[in-house]
Amino acid sequence: MFVETCIAPVNIALIKYWGKRDEDLILPINDSLSVTLSTDEMCAKTTIAASASFKCHLMWLNGEEVPFEENPRTMRCLKEIQRLAVAKGQLKFPIDWKLHIASRNNFPTAAGLASSAAGYACLVYTLAGLYGVENEELTAIARQGSGSACRSLHGGFVRWHSGKLKDGSDSIALPVEPAEHWPELHILILVVNDARKKTSSTKGMQRAVETSDLIAHRARFCVPERIAALVEAIRKRDFQKLAEITMRDSNQFHAIALDTYPPCVYMNDVSHAIAEFVHAYNNAAGEAKLAYTFDAGPNACLYLLKSDVSAAIAAIQTSFPNDMGHSVEYVKGIPVGCETKEKNGFNGNATLPIHDKNLLKYIIHTRIGKGPQRLDKDESLLDLTQGSPIET
Ligand code: DP6
Repeated sequence: MFVETCIAPVNIALIKYWGKRDEDLILPINDSLSVTLSTDEMCAKTTIAASASFKCHLMWLNGEEVPFEENPRTMRCLKEIQRLAVAKGQLKFPIDWKLHIASRNNFPTAAGLASSAAGYACLVYTLAGLYGVENEELTAIARQGSGSACRSLHGGFVRWHSGKLKDGSDSIALPVEPAEHWPELHILILVVNDARKKTSSTKGMQRAVETSDLIAHRARFCVPERIAALVEAIRKRDFQKLAEITMRDSNQFHAIALDTYPPCVYMNDVSHAIAEFVHAYNNAAGEAKLAYTFDAGPNACLYLLKSDVSAAIAAIQTSFPNDMGHSVEYVKGIPVGCETKEKNGFNGNATLPIHDKNLLKYIIHTRIGKGPQRLDKDESLLDLTQGSPIET
């Protein structure tokens, strides 16, 4: 049996990918730019085993068996990796051996956090390790699992170039700056209580391309200008610029979702209250201390600098009170330090709106991080004698 286990990070876009020019190859209509989050707090972990004794490909996601051979996206990733392996000509085992795949997220999938990006990036990276092609260009393969997954194959700030070619070979993700360039960049994910069923990103963006008048304008005029300005802001570690561009792009993406017919509504009242809170907070501070961005769901992702984390969390606790308040179950991830509000010169919580209790489920505190990593054998999610998932 040949086995490989890897982890891959979540990424959150500052400039959103929204809209495809090719549905099968997953080619986007615009470039996008994201921050890779640290795997210490959130990651996907995947073990893949290949054996002569396996009868068919099987996959388990968080312990539940899920279709693999019936899923065109997972099969496309496998075929592409196998094609690279055959072209390289150094096969460790026959190409027709079947695989058992176990994958887990160390964060709740149901919370609507970017789990498919980490999941497909991890699948492709682990397959690449198993077939011995880990040093090849893999982002164009991960892209065919889920578009945003291609950005999770690099750490730091990552740009997915939409590319021009019909076959998609130039639609790849490249690093802009590594995580070490700006390690002070931290992230707070505000997980919002919400029960509504959302239109998936795949369907939402397809409908937007078909019906929105605004989307073509955004792709042609707004995104190129924003990406150039954002790359410059990142190089200079200019948080003020990064914050404004990020918030404007999130707002524009949701405007396009609403311009879709019938409209896609991803943010809810709590999401809007968070956006309002961020503007009130920044206003009181006299500069941008926080930048929000929302994906295809109600949860907020806030970017901020490490030195502002304690003050920001205190303000969030004031504005969005919660019975769980200070428990480690409520504020998860990196422990919040003891920088005081006075230290960073902000003490404007009195001006903030106070909302009803318990609008947020929990908060995850994390930071910018590295790309995927290979793990040791003893980290396997599969029982190596049987090839079945280990119960956790
Ligand atoms: C709002 O990558 O999930 O998170 O390519 O159809 O699988 P598919 O879509 P997906 O879309 C992500 C959309 C987004 C913005 C982003 O991450 O850039």
